[in-house]
Amino acid sequence: MSASDSVPRVGVWLIGARGSVATTVVAGCAAMAAGLHPPTGLITETPPLTGSGLPDLSALVFGGHDTVDCPLPKRAEALAAGGVLPHGLPAAVSAELAAAEREIRPGGPLPGDSRTEEDLIAAFAADIRSFVRRGRLARAVVVNVASTEPAPTGDALPPSSLYAAAALRAGCAYVNFTPSTGMHHPALTQAAKSSGLPHAGRDGKTGQTLLRSVLGPMFTQRALTVRAWSGTNLLGGGDGASLADPAAAAAKNAGKERVLADTLATTPEGEVHIDDVPALGDWKTAWDHIAFDGFLGTRMILQTTWQGCDSALAAPLVLDLARLTARAHERGLSGPLSELGFYFKDPVGQGPAGLGEQYAALVRFAERLRASPADGGTRSHTEGRSGEEQR
Ligand SMILES: NC(=O)c1ccc[n+]([C@@H]2O[C@H](COP(=O)([O-])OP(=O)(O)OC[C@H]3O[C@@H](n4cnc5c(N)ncnc54)[C@H](O)[C@@H]3O)[C@@H](O)[C@H]2O)c1
Repeated sequence: MSASDSVPRVGVWLIGARGSVATTVVAGCAAMAAGLHPPTGLITETPPLTGSGLPDLSALVFGGHDTVDCPLPKRAEALAAGGVLPHGLPAAVSAELAAAEREIRPGGPLPGDSRTEEDLIAAFAADIRSFVRRGRLARAVVVNVASTEPAPTGDALPPSSLYAAAALRAGCAYVNFTPSTGMHHPALTQAAKSSGLPHAGRDGKTGQTLLRSVLGPMFTQRALTVRAWSGTNLLGGGDGASLADPAAAAAKNAGKERVLADTLATTPEGEVHIDDVPALGDWKTAWDHIAFDGFLGTRMILQTTWQGCDSALAAPLVLDLARLTARAHERGLSGPLSELGFYFKDPVGQGPAGLGEQYAALVRFAERLRASPADGGTRSHTEGRSGEEQR
């Protein structure tokens, strides 16, 4: 056994592996593991979560599926040219980008693809199993960071659900960082339940909705009446282009609006709009306008403007989720991980909607991950077979 075999390595299989978020995840993880950048934005590197037995950043191995063929190092150069990655980082982590590139397989369905749903699930699952076997990985987590798809109509499984089914078949934990259907499809409910695998989602909470999950509880706790809450997002990049499709944007906006309904216990007037502005690239401007009543009905307004770099906000959360979900799998947890609601716009399972309570739930979850099996504190979710046992 070589020295590198002595530390168990954990796979992160990215669906949408050549996208902005995925590229920032791979380059960012390599940069932190090499000590080139501090882990700013990684909650798993802060004291309440360290010591929970999470895999080290240097133990993560990347691969994935994508439907485009622009190589990862080239994608990283484009992100650096756009200021998303620090200048010089793609060259500094070129070996890690090349290693991940070698582990990317063609996704699907491709235009004119004649494969059946079963063919696609079987092919995707075989790719993931082969990744785990070749890399002698202890386990892998499948993370969906592919383009947002419209909500499905009819019985056909959307691509995100084909990949979720493949994750189950390959015995992997699953994280849906997008608003796409993924594991939420009714056809997967039984398989997800009986798999004994943990899953988390949906749609990373990185900007506007993060603010909403803080401000919503503030209005409620201060007994202020919110009359209208309207929002507009301007963004470019691949995500901006995907969300120019009204059906894809509707899937995204449902999560943003759910946070208000859950934290205000009512649905105020107002809508969320997403505009594709290609010139902005990965930089998003999100503007919220909140009309509320104070004492004696006095009318007031709060406005917030959030200007963020989307992939830089998302990447640390993807790394956190991969590490937490891998550890949950290792500890035999299964089913929806509602304690990870802190990370999502539209969390699975039952949990609080305000960010403060969600953070407290995350810290308790990390404590349970740390506990030894003798403490009896780990198997609080549905008991089930491990992924290894299924294979
Ligand atoms: N702050 C954030 O960046 C943020 C927050 C929450 C959610 N998200 C979600 O993360 C996802 C990725 O965002 P991004 O900016 O990286 O987008 P992107 O357009 O740069 O990347 C998406 C990638 O998915 C690939 N893809 C599309 N269909 C596929 C398929 N069927 N199989 C495999 N790959 C496929 C595309 O080729 C592309 O490389 C989006 O769904 C976005 O809504 C991002």
